[in-house]
Amino acid sequence: MRVLGIETSCDDTGVTLIEADGDFGRGCSFNILGNALSSQKDLGEQYGGVFPAMAKREHAKNLVPALTVCLCDAAALEEKPSDISHYLPQLKEILEREPELLAQLTPFLAKYARPEINALAVTVGPGLEPCLWVGINFARALSAAWSIPIVAVNHMEGHIVMSMMEHSNILENVGMSGKMHSLEFPALSLLISGGHTELVLMREFGKYEIIGKTRDDAVGEAFDKVARMLGLPYPGGPHISRLAEEARSSITTYDVVKVSLPRPMLNEDNFDFSFSGLKTAVLRLTENRELTDDDKRVLAREFEDAVTDVLVGKTLRAADEYGANTVILGGGVSANLHIRNELSRKLKAESCKLLVCPPEFSTDNAVMIALAGYFHLPAATPAAQAGALKKEFADPATLAANGSLKLG
Ligand code: KG4
Ligand code: ZN
Repeated sequence: MRVLGIETSCDDTGVTLIEADGDFGRGCSFNILGNALSSQKDLGEQYGGVFPAMAKREHAKNLVPALTVCLCDAAALEEKPSDISHYLPQLKEILEREPELLAQLTPFLAKYARPEINALAVTVGPGLEPCLWVGINFARALSAAWSIPIVAVNHMEGHIVMSMMEHSNILENVGMSGKMHSLEFPALSLLISGGHTELVLMREFGKYEIIGKTRDDAVGEAFDKVARMLGLPYPGGPHISRLAEEARSSITTYDVVKVSLPRPMLNEDNFDFSFSGLKTAVLRLTENRELTDDDKRVLAREFEDAVTDVLVGKTLRAADEYGANTVILGGGVSANLHIRNELSRKLKAESCKLLVCPPEFSTDNAVMIALAGYFHLPAATPAAQAGALKKEFADPATLAANGSLKLG
């Protein structure tokens, strides 16, 4: 089965073609045939964050070039003039709000033959709605042009599925292949990203129970805000992480201010999180002060330690309480090596298995969307699991973005 994944929920435009075979949990394997990811990181750096209207325009500009690169890498782009007149009116209607996308897509469709693709998987939420709509309308347009069914994908499920796979050839983007880890339920997922911080219990694939979540800022948001206080560029997570690592490896004498930050809600009897107080505590320590480079390193380290203590502490307690046999770590912040190493070390001591994907696939991409989409195809659904999955294709006419879509 060939699935084309499309991801536009935030500031990364991703288009990926995978070839996958096998049932969920029974030797499923995949190959990435083509993978294009165009990040708006430079714009984010310039403007200090993501602005939905600007991000939407960038997606509209980037999707056709990303599709071209992806299909070209997959050797699935065959030049063959095609008559598009019979579906052109429909395309115009679908892409009414994305004229720039329409202007690029029509010559593309007229120039190339329909590639061999069995399904389109597109992120429908959660995320920034204007951005989600561009991806959805792009999928609807391709569906109309090439008569390919669409599977609607929850972005957070994409992060979970990405970590469920055992990846090989991770240094090479295209040509990367992998198979599914053997999973033991119940599985507990810690999802940490720019918009989410959640502990999700999964008793079987496709059935989710959110047992804890942030009451204010998401952990990635806290990383980004603290980074800004330290004068670091957006997105701040990788920069904080680098400074924290420098502090761990090089600062031996504390002629710099020693700081101590709170571990919010760590000892409370629930699985919720709160990071806004931690962010405010950093603000108190930084406002009206000239920070030296060592001050920044020490602060970054203490912040990363505080976040890690809370995330790891609560995950371990939840794994214990729910008898989880597997912990899955996913979302952009899971690229953080300190968090993944600490979680791995502590879970090993508890004989609980940790699944996590290569750091370069922790942040948003379309591989995860294609994989999650694949598991919702009838062909990937073993009879025993039939009740757990949606199994139907989306109706392109009613497919809609849902910025606050929940895992359920
Ligand atoms: O999943 P993602 O790519 O986008 C959302 O769905 O939100 O996550 C992006 C977040 C950003 O807040 C970014 O700062 C954070 O992931 N991030 C990191 C690291 N790499 C990315 N946070 C901490 N350490 C990192 N190495
Ligand atoms: Zn994400």
